[in-house]
Amino acid sequence: MNKVFIVANLKSYETEIEAKNWLEIFLRNFKNSNKDLSQKVIIICPPFTLLELFKEFFLTNEVNVFLGAQDISPFDEGAYTGEINAKQIKEFAEFVLIGHSERRNNFNETDDALSKKVEISLRYRLKPIYLVQSNSNQIPQGVEIIAYEPVFAIGSGTPDTPENANKEAALIRERGNYQVFYGGSVTSENVAGFTKMENIKGVLVGGASLNAEEFIKIIQNA
Ligand code: PGA
Repeated sequence: MNKVFIVANLKSYETEIEAKNWLEIFLRNFKNSNKDLSQKVIIICPPFTLLELFKEFFLTNEVNVFLGAQDISPFDEGAYTGEINAKQIKEFAEFVLIGHSERRNNFNETDDALSKKVEISLRYRLKPIYLVQSNSNQIPQGVEIIAYEPVFAIGSGTPDTPENANKEAALIRERGNYQVFYGGSVTSENVAGFTKMENIKGVLVGGASLNAEEFIKIIQNA
């Protein structure tokens, strides 16, 4: 069986207390899973403030989960007030989301800025998960993982169809040797429809991952 990737994007949610609660529920359901999860690669992207908590929790409880950051500074360390840089993220995470439509739209992130973020991630051996909104988006050099997330599907409860997502993923794969994930209104009910598609290696889950029980169901069903 091929490995399937499940990425949780917790976005700008969760205080420390809320996160501790989420982690306890995640752990209980993960350990009690009646399905084999050995082929599931789990990547959780909490807010920066919670990365250390997540890292320590998974180490202590010996759960094999990878961590990712939701963003990264385009600059190396230096006088850039407010930025979190690659060297700092590297202490806690192995992946980083770059190019989410919420960042492109709310923070005016341009292709040029996104390329810089990819470049600095790679320099520090962080793996970028590069988000595109269609198969025609620019893809910076060195990216290996792409998440296709059509804007209409994000947080809307209206996912793309697995067939169309698969078609988009195939077009992306024609452009390079990429692993393609799908994101946008993924739930435990619809996840299998995406992950069974030939060109889709994983899913990126936003809203539904905030409920740890539902997130475990997504992992089980993926
Ligand atoms: P959603 O978000 O699952 O809530 O649609 C996906 C994402 O923003 O990555």
